[in-house]
Amino acid sequence: MVASQINNLLNHPQPLHTSMNDLPPHFDSAATSNMVAAAKNVLKSNILGAFTKPAPSLYPHQWNWDAGFIALGYARSDFRQACSEMTALFRGQWAHGMVPQIVFSVKNVGKYFPGYFFWDTRDVPLKPRNTRTSGISMPPVHGFVLNRLLQLTPDQKAYRPFFRRMFDRVLLLHQYYYQFRDPDREGLAFICHPWESGMDNLPTWEEVFSQIHFNDSEVPPYERRDLEHVDALYRPRQQSYDRYIYLVNRMRQQRYQEPEMWDDFPFQVQEPMFNAILSHSNEALLEIGAWLRRDTGQLREWHTQTNRAINDKLWSESRGIYVSYDRVQRRQIPLTTAGGLIPLLCSAPDAAQTARMVALLQSPVFAGEPEHPAWLCASTALNEPGFDPHRYWRGPVWINMNWMLYHGLRRYGHHPLAERIRADSLELVRKYGFWEYFNPWKNLPEGETKGGYGSNQFSWTAALTLDWLER
Ligand code: GLC
Repeated sequence: MVASQINNLLNHPQPLHTSMNDLPPHFDSAATSNMVAAAKNVLKSNILGAFTKPAPSLYPHQWNWDAGFIALGYARSDFRQACSEMTALFRGQWAHGMVPQIVFSVKNVGKYFPGYFFWDTRDVPLKPRNTRTSGISMPPVHGFVLNRLLQLTPDQKAYRPFFRRMFDRVLLLHQYYYQFRDPDREGLAFICHPWESGMDNLPTWEEVFSQIHFNDSEVPPYERRDLEHVDALYRPRQQSYDRYIYLVNRMRQQRYQEPEMWDDFPFQVQEPMFNAILSHSNEALLEIGAWLRRDTGQLREWHTQTNRAINDKLWSESRGIYVSYDRVQRRQIPLTTAGGLIPLLCSAPDAAQTARMVALLQSPVFAGEPEHPAWLCASTALNEPGFDPHRYWRGPVWINMNWMLYHGLRRYGHHPLAERIRADSLELVRKYGFWEYFNPWKNLPEGETKGGYGSNQFSWTAALTLDWLER
């Protein structure tokens, strides 16, 4: 696709929703209404006042990118709650702009590890005084979420102050990434912990950790709580957890002081999905900024620079997909994961790159073989040595990843493939329920009937189902 066609698509966005006819026949209007009602119930049962927790017991606080996806689920039926999700999250924003991965609810103290006291952010001067937060961030979906809210707002005038306030907050967040997480001023933000990627347990992080050496004494004593709710088979292994905690401990010992903390920090990864989300949110802020009559020159520069850097540094010609770059070891990490496809969302890929990724999605790497087909899209490619269809981020399908991929493909005019991703996602939910993640194989091994894992009644699965089904 040539640049002018892409621009045309950008300037004339496709309708948000396609017809129900794209879905399998059992998605008749009764089935669809039932699903919408069930999804609304999930959100209703997870709501904690100003915000909605991601899951009933596994995640009892507010999470950063979850809040953005959840807001989209409310946008058509309860716009005030959609705005409230965003406002509540940004109450946790630190003075230099960072928006934390978790904003803790005082009601659920002790129910989650690592909790507020473990993060030990209480006396960090940058943290807002009256809010309890963790000390790292997450993928900055907020810009593009805000832009979709603007498209769906029932009353642009009445909500203008909300958009004005949020625009400034999100802009400050982006400034944080370009100032503190892009020391070489390349246009790429690095993440300092697997949890910042939102894709906590990718095999990619194992590659990075294989170069980080520490003693047991550098991992403080701790007790996991996740295994009280979910079978260990579906969760990260203990060895990975020790490494997560080792990194948290380093940061808290250094009192979260940036940029000093990064001088010898061992985990610094430029990940394609994270940067694509940042870039797409830059474009979204450009649109909101134009509406608010703000100066958007800086945003335009960031968008151009980040897209260029994503291509220069994160594209793998041999794999035909984007991959992560380890800033410490100064090398690409050669692994095929769904995050490597998300730059479609921010219009980084050119026609040839897009063709490679579209081919990969339809090849055995993601789609499986005719006799062993897979739902799109596995979080870690089916042919990776670290692939595991049950374990958190090592293979299962996640609905938020599919939602971003769907929009990325539509942006490039790949409507049938986008529709397949939407149909696969909705079919997984219909078949198994509102799970956190799903087995990517269409045919489960004999004797296995459970295809959804992690937490059931998962908020963003419900919210994005609503975004796909409601008109
Ligand atoms: C898990 C996911 C992360 C999500 C969080 C809360 O940690 O890996 O992406 O934000 O749960 O749902």
